Amino acid sequence: MHDKHRHVREIIGKAKHIAVLTGAGISAESGVPTFRSEDGLWKNFSASELATPEAFIENPRRVWQWYGWRRGEMLKAEPNSGHLALVELEKRAKAFHLITQNIDNLHRRAGNANIIEIHGNAFRNRCTSCRYLFSDDTCDFEKPEPLPVCPECGSPARVDVVWFGEPLPQRELETSLDVAAHCDVFLSIGTSANVYPAAHFPIMAKKQGAILIEINLEQTELTWQADFSFLGKAGEILPKLIGL
Ligand code: OAD
Ligand code: ZN
Repeated sequence: MHDKHRHVREIIGKAKHIAVLTGAGISAESGVPTFRSEDGLWKNFSASELATPEAFIENPRRVWQWYGWRRGEMLKAEPNSGHLALVELEKRAKAFHLITQNIDNLHRRAGNANIIEIHGNAFRNRCTSCRYLFSDDTCDFEKPEPLPVCPECGSPARVDVVWFGEPLPQRELETSLDVAAHCDVFLSIGTSANVYPAAHFPIMAKKQGAILIEINLEQTELTWQADFSFLGKAGEILPKLIGL
């Protein structure tokens, strides 16, 4: 095995508290599209028309159709070897937190337990009035039937994800900041590190002395700050670093 792989495997093996941040790249090998690559979602669809509170007020059906389509794509996908390596890592780690920007539920389906979903979950709805949360994997919003409503109060429901211009959920943000402040190893996997505040967590961790490890197909804003950068697919590199 490559020396760098072996060295990082040892670092991970000795870590007291491992923090992981994942982005769309970890699910790419499961067939879930990313956002900013050549054929990424934001190259073909308008974020401002689909992923903002204003877009939902203006045209809720259009937004629901988009999330319905994405739910269908996410349900077709299966966790890949990168997701599974993180399940094994959680089993072995002394302390472990998995912060994800993904809304696809694949970390949970893979079997991780300590997951912090900072951008929400596509399979959960939230009442726009009383904020009641309920799960939902309905995909077909083409028909003229009513859009999802709150089972408690009957008001329109929205998908429980974070849209552009919205703050992160308070508890998840606080936990992530705490994890970044206390971990000794931080892995940033498959994220372009472009969207804040998520992109700030690895930098915070590095500043307080954690070893920063990045896995990505290409270089990112974070690469120059990383102690170790692995250029390649998460599903191939992660199992090697964990020793599977
Ligand atoms: P991006 O699409 O911005 O970045 C995905 C990253 O994954 C890129 O840097 C790719 O190089 C990398 N990548 C692709 N395939 C990979 C693979 N097999 N292994 C390793 N890396 C791979 O997605 P995110 O960083 O997740 O937010 O985007 C952050 C947020 O912006 C998303 O949560 C979403 C989006 O708009 C909201 O919708 C609020
Ligand atoms: Zn309600």
